[in-house]
Amino acid sequence: MTKPIRAKISALGTYAPPRLLTNADLEKMVETNDQWILDRTGIRQRHIVDKGVATSDLAVEAARKALAQRGLAPTDIEAIIVGTVTPDMLFPSTACLVQHKLGAAGAWGFDLSAACSAFVYALQAGAQFISTGAHKRVLVIGADAMSTIIDYTDRATCILFGDGAGAVLLEPAEDDSAGLIDFIHEVDGSGGCFLYMPAGGSLHPATRETVEQRMHYVHQDGQQVFKFAVRKQTELCEKLLQRNGLKGSDIDVFIPHQANQRIITASADRLGLRPESVIINIDTYGNTTAGTIPLAMGTAIEQGKLKNGSLVLLASVGAGFTSGACLLRWAF
Ligand code: UT7
Repeated sequence: MTKPIRAKISALGTYAPPRLLTNADLEKMVETNDQWILDRTGIRQRHIVDKGVATSDLAVEAARKALAQRGLAPTDIEAIIVGTVTPDMLFPSTACLVQHKLGAAGAWGFDLSAACSAFVYALQAGAQFISTGAHKRVLVIGADAMSTIIDYTDRATCILFGDGAGAVLLEPAEDDSAGLIDFIHEVDGSGGCFLYMPAGGSLHPATRETVEQRMHYVHQDGQQVFKFAVRKQTELCEKLLQRNGLKGSDIDVFIPHQANQRIITASADRLGLRPESVIINIDTYGNTTAGTIPLAMGTAIEQGKLKNGSLVLLASVGAGFTSGACLLRWAF
């Protein structure tokens, strides 16, 4: 059997729409206050799309930056995977729309639905095409326009989410010293009832009633999700570290999904991570669902923490429940 080829991230592009929704803005919309939001979540502001701007637009902006960074043309891309829960429409897939807008003639692609774990799932899905030798350049995008499915009269959810996207290019690593090392992904469908959008699919197609009952928005039992997220994120990371003979302190950069600053610090503490290795940018972006991890990669680069050779741990928990952890050696 031929040895699998290791996939590496060779470029990164991120994008958040310019319009801001601050805690002060939300104070005027629902019964909340800046201090509560900051203390309970760590969020100060979110980026929000203007009307008419869709997830594919965010994805394309991020993808263009990633391609420019690597000096490649859209036609160099062989496959496009878009992780999102806010596709422009149910079909065609956002990947098709991105392929067309980018001008990535010759590429195929698909959407991947795994909520906040979509980026890590898509990364692994893309890596398989590289590993088998089927493709040499796969674009993996995490993009969500969460503001389009948020009920801005529900203070329990509207303070949390924002819009944004990140795209990475996957290419074969020259050798095993760089790239994706290992991953653990899980789903626990029994948690589906704690975070979901009830209508708009085949179970509850859009009707006057589904609109009146606000069923086209995100519904969440925050405490259930919080408890599961801390436990599962920690458990998966522990398993991944252990089976690779590593300790938390060996990790150079921890890039977790940004859902709540308290979830991040609780699991980072339990894992024994060095505080300076933990990337937090939720203050600036809120929870952008599939966008959080690539956006946080961008922050880690800006902060000078993510460098060639850094040992990186990614982690996420999201609706489903979906969860994932991924170990990689940064290579550009
Ligand atoms: O990426 C997707 C995954 N999602 C998550 O990971 C979210 C996980 N959950 C959370 O982050 C937290 O549960 C929340 C931030 C959503 C809520 O924080 P919490 O500490 O769990 O608050 P709580 O739901 O226990 O509510 C505490 C109090 C309640 O008031 P009483 O009953 O104590 O009087 C709420 O009504 O805070 C109240 N509250 C608010 N107050 C001001 C809830 N939302 C707000 C608000 N502003 N926006």
